[in-house]
Amino acid sequence: MSNSNPQPALEIIGRNPLQGTVKISGAKNSALAIMAGTLLCADDCRLSNMPSLADINTMGQVLASLGVKIKKIGSNWEFNPRDLKAIKAPYELVSQLRASFFVIGPILTRLGVAQVPLPGGCAIGSRPVELHVRGLQAMGANVTIEHGVVNASVKGSSGRLKGANIFLDYPSVGATETIMMAATLADGETVIENAAKEPEIVDLANFCNSMGAKISGAGTDSIVIKGVERLHSTDYQIIPDRIEAGTFLVAGAITHSEIFVTSVNHDHLIPVIAKLSEIGCKVIQEDENTLRTLPGELKASDIETLPHPGFPTDMQAQFMALLTISEGNSLVTETVFENRLRHVAELKRMGANIKVKGNSAHVVGVSMLSGAPVMATDLRASAALVLAGLAANGKTIVQGLQHLDRGYENLEQKLQGLGAKIQRLSDYQS
Ligand code: EPZ
Repeated sequence: MSNSNPQPALEIIGRNPLQGTVKISGAKNSALAIMAGTLLCADDCRLSNMPSLADINTMGQVLASLGVKIKKIGSNWEFNPRDLKAIKAPYELVSQLRASFFVIGPILTRLGVAQVPLPGGCAIGSRPVELHVRGLQAMGANVTIEHGVVNASVKGSSGRLKGANIFLDYPSVGATETIMMAATLADGETVIENAAKEPEIVDLANFCNSMGAKISGAGTDSIVIKGVERLHSTDYQIIPDRIEAGTFLVAGAITHSEIFVTSVNHDHLIPVIAKLSEIGCKVIQEDENTLRTLPGELKASDIETLPHPGFPTDMQAQFMALLTISEGNSLVTETVFENRLRHVAELKRMGANIKVKGNSAHVVGVSMLSGAPVMATDLRASAALVLAGLAANGKTIVQGLQHLDRGYENLEQKLQGLGAKIQRLSDYQS
C-alpha cells in the first residue's frame, strides 16, 4: 500500500565495509542545558562547537521567545539575554522539545518568577518533572501546576531562592541541571545529594563556573553550589557528543571495519568501549582525541542501562542492533526509561530474532540481517535502524527522519565520508 504523501528517507545498501575518519560534533545534551544556562547572566555569552541539530534550533527559538538576542556564525552562537523579560516559555515549542523545560531554573532564579508548560511525554516515556519541581520548592519557590503550566515564584520580598540540602530520589540528569542552575544565584549554599554524574552535568557546571558561579563536586553524587549575586559574560566550548561518538564506534563494529572517530573525549566513553570490547570489537586510543575500532568476531553480551557511569540508555538501541548479529544469546534490560524498546519491532522486520518481556529484550544472534523498509520511532531507534541497514544484506529504507535529525548532525554525509552506501531520498514513496 503506498503512502499518499512522499516522505524523506535514508536509502542504505548494506554489507559495505567502512574506512577513514569521522569527526564528532558538539554534545546535543550538553548544548541544550548550557543554552538554558545562558539565561543566568545579563551579559552576553558565546558558545562554540555547537552542533547543528533540530533540537538546538528549537531551543534557540525558545530563548528568542523569551527576549534573548541570538547570533549564529557556523558552530559559534552568541546569546544576549540582557532583555530577558518574558517569564513564560511558549507551549508549542516546549511540547516539541522537553529539554526546553530546563529554562525554568534560570528564569526563576534571575527574575523571581517563571511559567513553563509541562513538557509532554514522548515516545520513550512519560517524562515527569516532579524532581525538578521538588528541588525548586526546597529552595523556597512557590510552585503550582495549572492548565498544564508550571507556575513558579520566589516567596518573600528578597526575590531570591534560598540555598537548600536536596536529596534526589533518582539521579535525574535534568533535575540535577535545573537545581544546579537555580542554585547559582540563590542566597546561601545548596547541596544536591544523589546527583546525576553524566559528563554533560560536568560540562554545565564548568560553563556556569566560567561565568563566576561557585559549583564543586559535579561528576560526583554530591554537588555543592555556593550562591553568588550575579554572573558575568563568558566564552565556552561545548564538549564532544559521546552518544554520536558511540554510535559511530558501533558503525565500525557492526560492519567489521577499522575506522577512526576523532574529536572525542575517551573518558566519556568508558562504559561503551568496555561493552564493545566484551562483544568483540576492541577500541584503542589512537591519540589524545581519536579512537580506532579493531573489529573482530561478534559475541553475545548482556546490557543493563543505568545512570552514569553505568551503560548509557542513549546507546541501548544502537547496541541492540549490534547484538542482533552477535553470536549467542544477549539480554538487554532498559532500566532508565519505561518505553525504550520500540526499535525491536523494526529490527525484527530485518530478520532479527528478539523477544521482549517487560523492560528486557532477549536477542538471539542471527548470521545476517536482510534489508527492509523500516520506520523510526524515536531518536536513538532511528540510529539503530541505520546501523542495522549498514550490516544488512540488500537495501534498507529508513523513514521517520524527523527523529534522526533531532540528534545527529549530517549523519548520512558523515557515513558517506566513511564509504557507506547511504543517501537521503527527499520524497520516498513506499
Ligand atoms: C536526559 O534526559 C537526556 N536528555 C536524555 O537523552 C537521556 O536519555 C537522559 O538524560 C538519561 O541519561 C537531555 O539531556 C536533553 P532523566 P532527562 O531526568 O533529563 C525519570 C537523547 O536521546 N524522572 O535522567 O529527561 C524519567 O522519567 C535523550 O539524547 C522522573 O521520574 O533524563 C526517566 O525515567 C533521551 N522524575 C529517568 O528519571 C523527574 O522529575 C531518567 O530521566 C525527572 C526524571
